[in-house]
Amino acid sequence: MAALTVAGELRVPGDKSISHRALMLAALATGESRVRGVLESADVHSTAGVLRALGADIPPLAPALRITGRGLHGLRAPTAPLDCGNSGTTTRLMGGICAGYGFESVFIGDSSLSRRPMRRIARPLEAMGAHVELTGDALPMTIRGGALRSIDWLNEKASAQVKSAILLAAVVGGVSATVREPDRSRDHSERMLRAGGATVMTGDDAVTIEPVASLRPLDIEVPGDPSSAAFFAALAVLAARGELRIAGVGLNPTRIGFYAALHRMGAAVRFEDERDQGGEPVGTIVASASAGDLRATVAGGAEIPSMIDELPLLACVAARASGTTEIRGAAELRVKESDRIAAVVASLRTLGADAEELPDGLRVTGSDRPLRGHVVTHGDHRLAMAFGILGAMPRNSITIDDPECAIVSFPGFWELLQRVTGHTREGERSHGKRPSSG
Ligand code: S3P
Repeated sequence: MAALTVAGELRVPGDKSISHRALMLAALATGESRVRGVLESADVHSTAGVLRALGADIPPLAPALRITGRGLHGLRAPTAPLDCGNSGTTTRLMGGICAGYGFESVFIGDSSLSRRPMRRIARPLEAMGAHVELTGDALPMTIRGGALRSIDWLNEKASAQVKSAILLAAVVGGVSATVREPDRSRDHSERMLRAGGATVMTGDDAVTIEPVASLRPLDIEVPGDPSSAAFFAALAVLAARGELRIAGVGLNPTRIGFYAALHRMGAAVRFEDERDQGGEPVGTIVASASAGDLRATVAGGAEIPSMIDELPLLACVAARASGTTEIRGAAELRVKESDRIAAVVASLRTLGADAEELPDGLRVTGSDRPLRGHVVTHGDHRLAMAFGILGAMPRNSITIDDPECAIVSFPGFWELLQRVTGHTREGERSHGKRPSSG
């Protein structure tokens, strides 16, 4: 019978969350920052474009960038709406930055972004003294900022974007801010602000930033994105034989819940070479074929923010594990680039897998029957790639309506998948449709 064997070492593109923040903080710093390994994906292009529209000197994205920042008050009023494309991170973090300025800015985005909730940033930014007008709960969003006041805010949904919007507004506005979180969200903003000289205190369930007069330039190498590496770790554990090594990946504890879940499922995944890289932990992920050993898990509670973007992929892995996997406490999935609960369950069922929606998650019962059919991604990059991994398994035959949308976070994904599986696959190829160009 056809079986997938994997082997070799690979790298994945730079971390998306860190790339957005690096461009923003470099633009706000005083002096020249150096940023290596920035992710050159559609979402990060959106942040670069918005910063340029605000007068920042952001060169074309490239592996090594030098960015001259004009200080915390160096941005100027945009002359047109700020187009954030598909990127929630661009919208919400830049919304925080613009709240610190007296000018008016209008935020717009594509049809997916225009459906996503923005009141979650409007409320704290208004509590700080900014004026924010939404269309319903969404874009277009108009922000008129200015004299801000300090804030102490409960970040109910443990959203790193909301937390970062508040911290960035405080930085530009020269005020302090405390953000309380029920569960810990990713902390890249805190780490990078500290590297820029800000005083940021992190407790068990709160982060506080003190007023800052200016930010020092950054000198950072963006680690590989653990959310992108997750696809290849999943490919390896679903394989019948072999091992993949993914080098230079960010291993920030607020981002690696997916790997802990794989481990619970019986997968052979480990980290090697762990080290600090400019304030972020990095290392090599070693994932080995575990196909016969995978069993169901339960994911929920405080770990959800640390695996939020990997949950569609976890559901796909669960379709190949023995038993019923349950994901709970993940209602946020409904307001991502698509309603990821509805979309993942609908696609798994179309393919012949046993899956069920829950209000705040889903249930998947695994089997080893071939999965066949057509996946509708709703333009959601993480869905395209998660089902791309399932489609790369021998005996599965999966087509994907919009594979190109992977460029939102992982340009070159399909080519890398082809390279990793192409030479080692025995039996029929069934990746589904691939993009005609990179
Ligand atoms: C991100 C935070 C998360 C995550 C998104 C990137 C960030 O969103 O899903 O892909 O860079 O801060 P939320 O803050 O909405 O949870």
